[in-house]
Amino acid sequence: MTMVARFDAGDFRGTDPAMIQSWQRDGFLLLENFFTTDACDELRARAVQLVADADVKSISSVFSTTSHQHTRDIYFQTSGDKIRFFLEDGALDAAGELRVAPELAVNKIGHALHDLDPVFDAFSRTDQLARLAGDLGVAEPLLLQSMYIFKSPGIGGEVSCHQDSTFLYTEPLSCIGFWVALEDATIENGCMFALAGEHKGPLVQRFLREANELKFTPAAEVQWQSAAVPLEAPKGSLVVLHGKLPHYSAANTSPDSRHAYTLHVIDGACLYLPDNWLQRGATMPLRGFQ
Ligand code: FE2
Repeated sequence: MTMVARFDAGDFRGTDPAMIQSWQRDGFLLLENFFTTDACDELRARAVQLVADADVKSISSVFSTTSHQHTRDIYFQTSGDKIRFFLEDGALDAAGELRVAPELAVNKIGHALHDLDPVFDAFSRTDQLARLAGDLGVAEPLLLQSMYIFKSPGIGGEVSCHQDSTFLYTEPLSCIGFWVALEDATIENGCMFALAGEHKGPLVQRFLREANELKFTPAAEVQWQSAAVPLEAPKGSLVVLHGKLPHYSAANTSPDSRHAYTLHVIDGACLYLPDNWLQRGATMPLRGFQ
């Protein structure tokens, strides 16, 4: 199995040549200790509070990358510039009632936490992340999308294999994902897996808005050759994902939760197409790290 390159990025002051080489070769970069335990705990507490304050019982939007039922919900379709809550597949019974406690029922919160919540704003806009984005070649970073992912024990669902640029498309492609392990992510609790090196191939499909419908374009015939490598990531790790890197995660069947935070950045020097699923109102323009 391909070895996963890991770097200790405590007190990060910029990338070194080995990191850039790893990024270019694999399409991901695993930076341990990029965030402190305290920062992770603060973000986690904030997310738990947001769920506690929300009326989770009234939410019926289930997020599933297998059934794609969320794509038909207006609640999902208009969440690009809001803080909204999406449930796990299996969180509701046949009568539409929650089968589990609200804090376990939520799959994720999205998609503008970084602009609308002060704690998420501060976590997302750091000099270190700005420096890293610059080192990876993002000329004019714009923070497009944020998600808090719960992956709760026993119910946290799988995320099927995808490339992030499918969902956040620019010309030329520029999407980069920052994925933060807020708790240890292990094979047991559903860590990410990546097809190392496959970011060098094409983008297989797009997910776009057509009238009031969200849909995938037909997938290109691409045979990925690489074996998937597990991106086990201790708490505080940052995994940077190239927009064309195929990745996925399994369901969490363990007794341990696997909270994570993701932030997606695009380059303002590239064109963000108006048929991307994620759109913002005119009153909330995209901002960078400042
Ligand atoms: Fe992804």
